[in-house]
Amino acid sequence: MNSLIGWWEDAGIETDIPVLPPAGTRTAPAARTQAPPAPPSKPAAKAPLKPHQDARAMAGSADSVEALKAVLEQYEGCALKFTATNTVFARGNPAAPLMVIGEGPGAEEDRQGAPFVGRSGQLLDRMLGAIGLDETGFHITNVVYWRPPGNRKPSSEEIEACRPFVERHIAIAKPRVILLAGGIAAQALLNTPQGIMALRGRWAEISAGGHTAPALPTFHPAFLLRRPQEKAKAWADMLSLADKLEELG
Ligand code: URA
Repeated sequence: MNSLIGWWEDAGIETDIPVLPPAGTRTAPAARTQAPPAPPSKPAAKAPLKPHQDARAMAGSADSVEALKAVLEQYEGCALKFTATNTVFARGNPAAPLMVIGEGPGAEEDRQGAPFVGRSGQLLDRMLGAIGLDETGFHITNVVYWRPPGNRKPSSEEIEACRPFVERHIAIAKPRVILLAGGIAAQALLNTPQGIMALRGRWAEISAGGHTAPALPTFHPAFLLRRPQEKAKAWADMLSLADKLEELG
């Protein structure tokens, strides 16, 4: 339980809650700070897309996670690439039983070229740490590999342009369990228009390239930073995730 309190406190959220409160019985603590306003975005993409590049063939040519990263770096079929500083592919252990899939890079991820390394990534690490997982126990990626300008949501075209690589990544890494962080990732990979409020906490399945894994949608950590009152549901999801990993581990 201390680790649960810890991941909230480390994320900048004040709490004096000694144990997990029963749902609806306690007023949630407020976030200490507001996220700073997004910096002005770069101008829209000018470079031409390369529609002749066959994303599925390119992704399919890779037979390791390392090779997939290399081929993704040659891919120019997603407009986001032309406004981003770096391609943000993955971090963590590709052989880990858990794959976490988020929405897309933010400013810090764009700067560092790695997913979930900003404030919401720190919270995600603390959430996973609370169930005993460090970077050796998970592998993290996103449904798009380049930062959407101004941190807007990725469009369905941008998600589709990246999808062959995401699916190939799942097929190669063969995670036993997938955690979907936020509504955009959940909708894209479960192929549903339902929102995260309806999807979270309910196990589904993802199949890609002949590999099938149970997938759990949960709240995006950035949402939890804005709405700490939802933490009990997120914690329930983490416990469900830990149970599934134990069952399949
Ligand atoms: N939010 C995401 O969904 N992914 C990241 O990599 C960072 C923030």
